[in-house]
Amino acid sequence: MYDVTEKFAKLKGKDDIIVLGLESSCDETAAAVVRGKTVLSDVISSQADIHKRFGGVVPEVASRNHTLAAVGVVDEAIRSAGIGIEDVDAIAVTCEPGLIGALLVGVSTAKSLAYARKLPLIKVNHIEAHICVNYLYGIEPPFIALVASGGHTSVIDVVGENDFRLIDATKDDAIGEAFDKVARVLGLPYPGGPAVDELARRGAPDITFVKKRHKDFISYSGLKTAVINYIHNAEQRGEKINIENVCASFSREAVDIAADAVMKAAEITGRNAVAIAGGVAANSLLRKTLAERAAARGIKLYIPSPRYCTDNGVMVALRGYLSAKEGKNLAPLNLNASSVSEGK
Ligand code: KG4
Ligand code: ZN
Repeated sequence: MYDVTEKFAKLKGKDDIIVLGLESSCDETAAAVVRGKTVLSDVISSQADIHKRFGGVVPEVASRNHTLAAVGVVDEAIRSAGIGIEDVDAIAVTCEPGLIGALLVGVSTAKSLAYARKLPLIKVNHIEAHICVNYLYGIEPPFIALVASGGHTSVIDVVGENDFRLIDATKDDAIGEAFDKVARVLGLPYPGGPAVDELARRGAPDITFVKKRHKDFISYSGLKTAVINYIHNAEQRGEKINIENVCASFSREAVDIAADAVMKAAEITGRNAVAIAGGVAANSLLRKTLAERAAARGIKLYIPSPRYCTDNGVMVALRGYLSAKEGKNLAPLNLNASSVSEGK
């Protein structure tokens, strides 16, 4: 017998709810415990080194490694929070979007624990979770959020803690995907974003890859292809490229696409706060560009520390807490994972 409706209802309006959050949508197995907006523990087991030799995340390998790591990571999150499982009020788990096999490991682990301990299970959207780490820095809705990662490039109007309205999203590749692909063609190790960022800082943005860009929507495949063609053409002609300048020029154009979309969204909605999230939020040029453009328009910019930009359990636990506080997103025990965001 599993009926947690009453337990879940009792959490409504409370600000000291203890939530265990689980994340397994890509290549990090992560779990964390929060009490309200206070982080009690934060455990991440990264598979980055395993996938490095394949030059990218191999979905089946990711699922198998999540299976190996999940129980240990959850145990460690509870233990290092200084609590017992009996103190947990609810379990939150990322169920969309992401790699389906990888998501299923987190979802099954969370379901088993919820059933065994008779705890409410809260479903979490990965993109919404990324945005929620910004609550650790004191942001209050409404604000514009940019989620820039290996899988997503979305601009969202956050109207309330449980009210997310998609304004724009990439029509093709994600910004991080473009960084990783360019890095790969340049012979840099996976994930390539940090390496491109580092080289770009030493270069000059003196190459224009996309001469005429459509400013009405977010798209990265044109830029990615233009950079790859530039590198291949130089190779065919036996010319040596300046790798720092290629990285600087690509980064400049990639960042401008995202920054333009964010500033346009802020203008349309009249929001005076912007938050960024996702792995690419660690990019130094993106941080600098948005800081300058936001300051010029009197907009307050929130940027999480790099640890909270990439996938982590804290963001899932926080998203779960905000849901429980408003009595939202309670999931049944037949909760399924989905590779795409529901309804999108
Ligand atoms: O959020 P995340 O950890 O996983 C996904 O949900 O995708 O983001 C990973 C992405 C990778 O594409 C990685 O290359 C990129 O974030 N990334 C960066 C930087 N640090 C991480 N891209 C550009 N500059 C960086 N400093
Ligand atoms: Zn992510």
